[in-house]
Amino acid sequence: MKAVILAAGKATRLRPVTLTMPKALVPVANKTLIGYAFDVLKAAGFDEIGIVVNDLDSPLPQTLGDGAALGIRLQYIVQAEQKGLAHAVGLCRDFVGNEPFCVFLGDNIFQDKMSSMFANFLTSDAESAIALGEVSDPTRFGIAELNDDGSIARVVEKPKEPKSNLAISGVYLFRPSIFDAIDRIKPSWRNELEITDAIQRLVDDGKRVDSYILKGWWIDAGKPDAIVLANQLVLEELPYTPANEDKTQIIGNSTVTHRVILGKNSQVIDSVVRGPVIIGDNTVIRNSYVGPYTALGDNVTIEGSEIEASIVMKNCTISNIKGRIDSSLLADNAQLSAANHMPETHRFVLAENSYVQL
Ligand code: DAU
Repeated sequence: MKAVILAAGKATRLRPVTLTMPKALVPVANKTLIGYAFDVLKAAGFDEIGIVVNDLDSPLPQTLGDGAALGIRLQYIVQAEQKGLAHAVGLCRDFVGNEPFCVFLGDNIFQDKMSSMFANFLTSDAESAIALGEVSDPTRFGIAELNDDGSIARVVEKPKEPKSNLAISGVYLFRPSIFDAIDRIKPSWRNELEITDAIQRLVDDGKRVDSYILKGWWIDAGKPDAIVLANQLVLEELPYTPANEDKTQIIGNSTVTHRVILGKNSQVIDSVVRGPVIIGDNTVIRNSYVGPYTALGDNVTIEGSEIEASIVMKNCTISNIKGRIDSSLLADNAQLSAANHMPETHRFVLAENSYVQL
């Protein structure tokens, strides 16, 4: 079965991190965002995945290649101009062929594996099925109103006066009829071809569109805060592992609790690490505190500092920062070192190769 992941777009809300790294490659608990989409799709039996990208030179094709290393078959579909989700889906017509298919937004992450939604759609006579989640701020999303039988009565993209708090999340199931619907919609007020409008077109044509209400959390990880929150939610689910007592890794006066994953050649020296925490390879923590919900990438050095509930990507250094770093996002190669006067906490969103001295 085929699926498409939409991962083109400018990702302006996640700058500066996305100036040099597509949103889909941002790590959450040391795994790329798109890796979570692969997990859901693979579990549901989608083994041929098309990824919509800005261009073939982008880091996504360069990093993921043909997918062989991940046990999936990947193809890339170029959307040179980001003219909206329906435009992106429309470009996948040849890739999809004549079969039902899934569309997955590359910046969404779900606790729910949605297996019953996938299974039910294949045997149903519905023309589409969409996953919905309750939100507190419905004006930011596509919003669905339901009929009594749970099918979709109406969908509206980012309504000013929402009639429900059921948001369209990032997973859609379609049959090839969606392409004809896409051909018949016009650009929206934000000058995009909206997939929401194409779904409404199916409803207006009298076609059945099923809904599926998500279980558990769902994050549209388009902003730094949302990425940091997703990191916490994923780490919250780390299964129990006993405290690491390997004397080659846990050195001196150190305390490392359960639910701490420590990568190869990484060391904790005279420090406290309190899980859930994930630490990559070749990372050194010295005279420091690393608190719950923190993900440290490969080749990171933390010394004389305290950090929690944060994402630190590869090759970063944090040294002698006074006060605790909290809910922060540091992209590759960021350097953070102390100067004189510190506030009690710090929050950072740093681009690759940033250098900060406080
Ligand atoms: O996150 C759920 C929301 O996603 C839904 O509630 C909305 O109905 C839906 O329109 C969408 O809204 P956003 O404004 O959040 O979409 P965004 O522009 O962030 O794009 C979502 C993903 O699709 C993102 O990974 C980038 C990719 N994309 C986006 C556009 C506009 C493309 O691949 N091509 C595009 O042209």
